[in-house]
Amino acid sequence: MQAERESWSGKFGFIMAAAGSAIGLGNIWKFPYMAGTSGGAVFLIAYVIFLFLLGVPVMTAEISVGRFAGMNAVDSCRRISEKWEFVGWIGLAGAFAILSYYSVVGGWVIKYALKYLRGIGTGDTEAYFNSFVSKTGEPVLLHIIFLLVCALIVLCGVSAGIERVSKILLPLLFVLLIVTAAFSLSLPNAEEGVRFFLVPKLSEVNGWGSVCLNAMGQVFFSLSLGMGTLITYGSYLKKDSNIRSSAYTIIALDSIAAVLSGFAVMPAVFSVGLEPRSGPGLLFLTLPAVFDSVPFGRWVAVAFFLLVLLAAVTSAISLMEVLIAFLTGRLGMKRISAVILLTIVLGITGAISSLSNGILSDMLIFGMTFFDFMSFLSDKIIMPIGGLLMCLLVGYVWGIPAAANEISNGGKLPFRGKNLFSFVIRYVSPALIIIVFVSSFF
Ligand code: PHE
Repeated sequence: MQAERESWSGKFGFIMAAAGSAIGLGNIWKFPYMAGTSGGAVFLIAYVIFLFLLGVPVMTAEISVGRFAGMNAVDSCRRISEKWEFVGWIGLAGAFAILSYYSVVGGWVIKYALKYLRGIGTGDTEAYFNSFVSKTGEPVLLHIIFLLVCALIVLCGVSAGIERVSKILLPLLFVLLIVTAAFSLSLPNAEEGVRFFLVPKLSEVNGWGSVCLNAMGQVFFSLSLGMGTLITYGSYLKKDSNIRSSAYTIIALDSIAAVLSGFAVMPAVFSVGLEPRSGPGLLFLTLPAVFDSVPFGRWVAVAFFLLVLLAAVTSAISLMEVLIAFLTGRLGMKRISAVILLTIVLGITGAISSLSNGILSDMLIFGMTFFDFMSFLSDKIIMPIGGLLMCLLVGYVWGIPAAANEISNGGKLPFRGKNLFSFVIRYVSPALIIIVFVSSFF
């Protein structure tokens, strides 16, 4: 039997922690670029539509499964149906896959934050980055430091660790986002970046299909769906909490952070006449070139990398908690032993990820380096499958009456959209996820 389980001290703490999980690299390095290259405002409209068709129902489903069962992701799914325990295992695998490269990127961010703190520009940003990530010692060491910071937070527990830290880091993250966005918008030619990001570009939309696919994939990744994070965080919720209003608030905060990131990044990139990119290239190649050439760039860089670091830490701890909740709840380990074990294992897998950009670059899995393979596995395979199975678990196995009972706190809260929720979670969301999944291979 489990010992007395912890819970969030209140709704605010849960929302800060869950929004901290959602707001991550996906908001900063993917969203602005995706919007810019998928038709500007056209993408934003598609994104908002999919937030309602996919984000709201799947998030509500995950949180309610967690709160209903009050257990780790595997046992929560098992509580609904023994045969469906594997959905929880998929979440665990996904959390592990993401973590095995996320802390490496976290380490890179620490490096850049420190570098600008010391006031050194990076010169040829591309050459600098490539030579840094392929080193054997430093990136591995920084990955371990990032991991240890996250481990320490998780070790302190749900309310004394994750919640307390999120309540401080998330507001700070928003302050830094607003400051960097204001700075970026004040640069010469900033309008050009805003135009790239926001102006509807119907003529540039080459195929509505790809706009929709990008928007769906982004909703999924950005809201941390399909990985057991929201089941786990939901399992620490008190029974009288309002699941639907929490889900809406988390989604609103994540979307605001995504749009603010667009304002922080794109005007700056365009003001110095560079081309925007997505992924690590934006953070470590393009933006350093901007910081090196604008006034006060060094300090803006420190603020910016600190902001990215906060976003990465609050996302990483949510993934760690998925695994820790399993190790303590299912295997009965003490929290401290679970954290030590996980840190050692992730220390090793992260080191392999890091070295796969250097001395282990010949070790290929399906033609990909270990780093790329782990990110492919989590984003392209596990997330959509996990999300799809979640819809099926809630829509068909658990069933709408039972789910609605949980969501409405046993009928105490109104649940007017119940029929719509039922239709969406049973038919619309699964169909959309299958379309995104299949088409991502073409
Ligand atoms: N949502 C995070 C981001 O936007 C990534 C993430 C996915 C975190 C899944 C936890 C679980 O970067």
